[in-house]
Amino acid sequence: MALANRFYYIFFTTLFFLFNSCTQEPPAIPADMAKADLIPYPVALTATGSSFALKASTKIQVADDAGVKAVGEYLADKLRPATGLPLTVEVGTAEKDVIHLALGANDAELGSEGYLLEVTEERVHLTANEAAGLFRGVQTIRQLLPAKIEASTAQTADWIIPTGNIKDYPSYAHRGSMLDVSRHFFGVEDVKRYIDFLAFYKMNVMHLHLTDDQGWRIEIKSWPKLTTHGGSTEVGGGEGGFFTQEQYKELVAYAQARHITVIPEIDMPGHTNAALAAYAELNCDGKARELYTGTEVGFSTLCTDKPITYQFIDDVIRELAAMTPGPYIHIGGDESHATKKEDYIPFVNQVQDIVNKHGKQMIGWDEIATASLKPNSIAQVWASVDNAKLAVEQNTKILMSPARKVYLDMQYDSTTTLGLHWAAYIEIDSSYIWDPATYIPGVGKDQIIGIEAPLWSETVTKMDEIEYMVFPRLPGLAEIGWTPAASRNWDTYKQRLGQHGPRMSTMEIDFYRSKQIPWAN
Ligand code: ACM
Repeated sequence: MALANRFYYIFFTTLFFLFNSCTQEPPAIPADMAKADLIPYPVALTATGSSFALKASTKIQVADDAGVKAVGEYLADKLRPATGLPLTVEVGTAEKDVIHLALGANDAELGSEGYLLEVTEERVHLTANEAAGLFRGVQTIRQLLPAKIEASTAQTADWIIPTGNIKDYPSYAHRGSMLDVSRHFFGVEDVKRYIDFLAFYKMNVMHLHLTDDQGWRIEIKSWPKLTTHGGSTEVGGGEGGFFTQEQYKELVAYAQARHITVIPEIDMPGHTNAALAAYAELNCDGKARELYTGTEVGFSTLCTDKPITYQFIDDVIRELAAMTPGPYIHIGGDESHATKKEDYIPFVNQVQDIVNKHGKQMIGWDEIATASLKPNSIAQVWASVDNAKLAVEQNTKILMSPARKVYLDMQYDSTTTLGLHWAAYIEIDSSYIWDPATYIPGVGKDQIIGIEAPLWSETVTKMDEIEYMVFPRLPGLAEIGWTPAASRNWDTYKQRLGQHGPRMSTMEIDFYRSKQIPWAN
């Protein structure tokens, strides 16, 4: 080659490489979707070994549908703070550099909450039959990204999503948790944070235990003293509090935006001292009770043979039903030890009619199965196998909340300082290793609508304490509700949960570092 030719050769090849290094994408980072620490674990997952990278140019493209757009905005809100990327949400169907959300998965098996996720180096494609399915799939996208994605300020990381395909849908239709805001009151911001925890683990029910002996926490305009007097204290004598109807509606809307149903509970005929203190006429002797700040149960009862009692219940259920879009009103019905059995049964039957009259289905704790249940009522089984069987015999479905497995206020072991242990000590393995479909002999999956984990708040006074009792048991209970029994395995679950440690830390969740779990740093 002549010198001049050699010069041109070197000059142009150098230019060529320089040009390419400016315009060509860096090679995709290898990643294994099968090693992703997803909780709840999906129904089916195939890894393809590479990754999709979020970049400054990446867009979230959505179908032209209000529900889909809302899920797209939610995803952008979750991914922007840590990545610092714009992640514009727009209507479109580009083939490259997008996270695309669309309906029309056209797969009946997915139901209303299932989704298909296809991740290639070029794009992320999430489809579902309904927006609720996209919302659940978005939680999977969050968990496929590095744990730092949950930070509220910009972080440095390779923002990659492993490539592969996921097909996913829940085992049970009802997957929830209950928060007792009566024994200690928790305000709007705390409940919203709790709802966000449920959303992250694909749960879909927030049950609010709104009334008990120690406090009435929901404004009822036709009976104002329920809250002004009945809500004025709590366990230990603190100042208590209550939700105005506007605040309650705000919580319902917040949950709805996360495809979560709020179930409000008005516990009766027992657990009613706060109401009995507010209104003398609800007592058989016509005398108002003192407010109560202790933790005993089973001493209070509405007067079941006074007409005013049913007028009161009708007013309360009417106001509550009007601001509750979900199908259920929970009427408690547990531990009515101060109500005679012959009064309890007609009482529950009558309250069931009132709930139905206001367009809702009744849920109650398992004791309600001793009454005559309608097929669309639900018995929430917390203690009694006999009551579970009574419900099933009446063709009434069951919601599984066995205290020995799912009560989040139960202590982890004898060294736990918060919580109680009347049902059991519940370490992480015990909470995870059980199957709702085989837990009660003779009651199978078809008779069970799902599972719910209650957090009673006799000993729990603030958000940090809520977090300590809820985490890390909630993720495992979410998995029991979502993942098929055949895919649940304690040995692999505890590894995945260990990897969620940094994720929970990034979310500033004050969780219990159980020695059973190999926590990642
Ligand atoms: C309950 O734990 N009393 C339902």
